[in-house]
Amino acid sequence: MKRWAICYVSSENDRMEENHIEILFSQTQRNNMANDISGILLYSQGNFFQVIEGNAITIKELFKKIENDDRHRNLFRVFNREIKQDQYDDYCCDFLTKYNQSEELNENYYLQFLKNLDHSSQTAVQNILKAFVD
Ligand SMILES: Cc1cc2nc3c(=O)[nH]c(=O)nc-3n(C[C@H](O)[C@H](O)[C@H](O)COP(=O)(O)O)c2cc1C
Repeated sequence: MKRWAICYVSSENDRMEENHIEILFSQTQRNNMANDISGILLYSQGNFFQVIEGNAITIKELFKKIENDDRHRNLFRVFNREIKQDQYDDYCCDFLTKYNQSEELNENYYLQFLKNLDHSSQTAVQNILKAFVD
């Protein structure tokens, strides 16, 4: 079965309340675990960064829903392609703000998940992550 990965950044639509973001994150984590989707979802200062990986059909269908979700806009795809194996073991959601960044949630923490990506994807994700955790 084909495996697929999509990575994008986007901006929240209206300013989201912290508890709405937490609800979005817990739903995402629950759905993705149930559907064997792995990846990462981050939120920082009004922007989202997400990677979703899994069965190609499941990922493409989910992405259509995500794209049409009016909680965010200005969605920019970093990559959208077939992959050989999952880079992320489980789904991992983190809520990052400039107020609650803990020691472990630095750029290097996320970069360890990218080791197996091809070079161009790695560089793209790395630059975005820098902006996210700065
Ligand atoms: C930034 C962002 C990321 C999202 N990521 C996921 C995700 O990884 N998995 C998921 O099931 N829903 C995600 N959603 C929610 C979907 O857009 C959609 O609301 C959800 O899949 C429920 O759809 P359903 O009720 O038709 O099953 C995300 C929404 C936003 C705004």
